Amino acid sequence: MSAAVLELQRITKRYPGVVALDGVDFTVYENEILGLVGENGAGKSTLMKILIGLIQPDQGTYRLRGAPVVIKNPAHAANLGVGMVFQEGCLVPNLSIMENLFLCHEIGFRHFGFLSKRKMRDAAHAALGTVKVAADLDTPVSETTPAVRQMIEIARLLWLSKLYQQRNPVLILDEPTTVLTDDERNTLFSIATELKSQASIILISHRLQEIVETSDRILIMKDGKRVANIQARHAGIPEIEQMMVGHAFAADRFREDEQIPPGDQVTLTLENVSKRGVFEPLNFEVRQGEIISLVGLVGSGKEALCRCIAGLEKPDTGSIKLAGKRLTPGSPSEAVRAGIGHIPIDRRSDGLALGMTIAENVNLLVLDHLKVGGFISPQREKKNALRWIQDCRIKAPSPSTMCVNLSGGNQQKTVIAKWLSSKIHLLVLDHPTRGVDVGAKDEIYRLIRQLARTGVGMIIMCDTLEEDIGLCGRMLIMKDGQLVNEVNCPPYRKPSPSDIISSIV
Ligand SMILES: Nc1ncnc2c1ncn2[C@@H]1O[C@H](COP(=O)(O)OP(=O)(O)OP(=O)(O)O)[C@@H](O)[C@H]1O
Ligand SMILES: [Mg+2]
Repeated sequence: MSAAVLELQRITKRYPGVVALDGVDFTVYENEILGLVGENGAGKSTLMKILIGLIQPDQGTYRLRGAPVVIKNPAHAANLGVGMVFQEGCLVPNLSIMENLFLCHEIGFRHFGFLSKRKMRDAAHAALGTVKVAADLDTPVSETTPAVRQMIEIARLLWLSKLYQQRNPVLILDEPTTVLTDDERNTLFSIATELKSQASIILISHRLQEIVETSDRILIMKDGKRVANIQARHAGIPEIEQMMVGHAFAADRFREDEQIPPGDQVTLTLENVSKRGVFEPLNFEVRQGEIISLVGLVGSGKEALCRCIAGLEKPDTGSIKLAGKRLTPGSPSEAVRAGIGHIPIDRRSDGLALGMTIAENVNLLVLDHLKVGGFISPQREKKNALRWIQDCRIKAPSPSTMCVNLSGGNQQKTVIAKWLSSKIHLLVLDHPTRGVDVGAKDEIYRLIRQLARTGVGMIIMCDTLEEDIGLCGRMLIMKDGQLVNEVNCPPYRKPSPSDIISSIV
C-alpha cells in the first residue's frame, strides 16, 4: 500500500444537540480515489470542512505527510495541497477564467514589478490542459457552466500545490455530480482517474453506482462514526446501503404494489402551451392521483415546461387550467394559492428560507390551518412540524434548528416536507431524490405514493430512468421541445429503460 498523505485520528466535533463527528479515524493514501458515503447528516461534509480548516475539531489530531499540522483556514490548506471544490463554487463570477485561476497568487508572474501576461497565459493553458478545459481564458466565470467551474477549481488547486511544491495534493469533491449532466459526469470521472497519478481524490456522493465504479476504497459513515472501510472492487451496492442505513431495502423500491390507477377527475390541463424557441404547443392532462414523468435530455424543454406550470415562467401561448379553472400565466403566487406545489431542483437556494427554523419552513404554507381563534397556536405549530419531521425523517436536534445548519440532504427533505404538509392538488417534483440518502429516498417514494392516494396529481423529473419508470403511471417523452412519445407504466408491466432510451436520444 502507498504512503499516507493525510491522517486524522479520533476527530470529534460537537454542535448544540448533535455529535457531528464522534472519534473518527480517517486516512487518505497517495494516488487513490477514496469514496466517502453515509446517510444525510452522517458527518461527511463536517469532516471535509475540518480537512480544509474551515472549522476546527473539538478533539483529535491531524497529520499531513507525516507531520502534525493545525490547518488555520482553507487558504492555508490550499497552500499545503489540500483543497475542496465547493458546490456553490468559490470562484469570483465577474472575473475571467484566468484571473480566477491565479487569484491572490499572481506574484509568481511578476518580473521587475510588471505582471507578465504572457507567462500567465501559458501557465493558464497548461493548468486547464490537465483538466481538459479548452475555454477562452478571458471568459468571465459567470458565463461558464457548473462543469467548467468545477474544473477551474480543480485546476487552481493543482496549480497551487505545484506553486508551493506540495507532493500528491488531496482534492475533495463533495457531491460534485449533482449539478452535472451525464456526459459531464463521465468527463469528471475520467479526469479524476487520470489525476490519480499525481493526486489523491476524496469523492462524496449519494449515487453509489458512481462511487463503486470510480473509487479504489470506500469509507462508510453513520451517525458521526466510521462504520466500514472496504476495497471498492469487493463492494456491492446493497451491502453498502445496508451499512449506511442499518437495514436492508426491499427489491420493490418504487412500491409498485401501492401504485393506483388515475382518478376520473382531471387535475391539470394544458392546451397549446408553448414557449418560443424552447418548446412547441403542448397538450396533455394530469388526472387526480396520477403520476406523470417527464423524460428528455437537457434542452428537451421539460424544465421550462415545469416552470411554466408552477407559474415561474410565462408561456407565450395556450392555457393552463387547474381543476378546470384557468390560471394567470407566469404568476407563482396564484399557482400556490390554486394548490400547485413545486419542488425545485436547487432546493438550497430556491425552496428554503435558510435563516428560518425547520418548523417555520414546514409550516409556512399551512399557517391558516394552525390558527385557533385567529392566532397561530404554538401547540399546533409544533405538532404539525414534528409530524412532518418524523414522516420525512429530517435528522435534526429539534424543530427549532435553523435550516442553515442542516446537512444538505436534510435541507432538501425540509422543502419536500413543506409541500407535503400543505393542501395541494398538483405537485411538480424536479429531481426530488437528488442528494438524499437511500433511506430518505425510500421515505420519499413512500410519501409520493401516499400523496397520490390522497388524489394529488404529480409531474416528476427524476435522476435516473429507472426511478422515472418505477414511480410514474405514464411517461411523456420530450425531445427538442416536442412531445415525441407517451409510454404507459402500469404496475408489474413496466417498460425497461432500453425500451425508452431510443425515443429520448
Ligand atoms: N454549523 C452547524 N451547526 C449546527 N449543526 C451542524 C452544523 N454543521 C453541521 N451540523 C450538523 O452536523 C451533522 C452532520 O452534518 P454534515 O453536513 O456533515 O452531514 P453530511 O454527511 O454531509 O450529510 P448530507 O449527505 O446531507 O450532505 C448534521 O446533524 C448537521 O445538522
Ligand atoms: Mg454534506
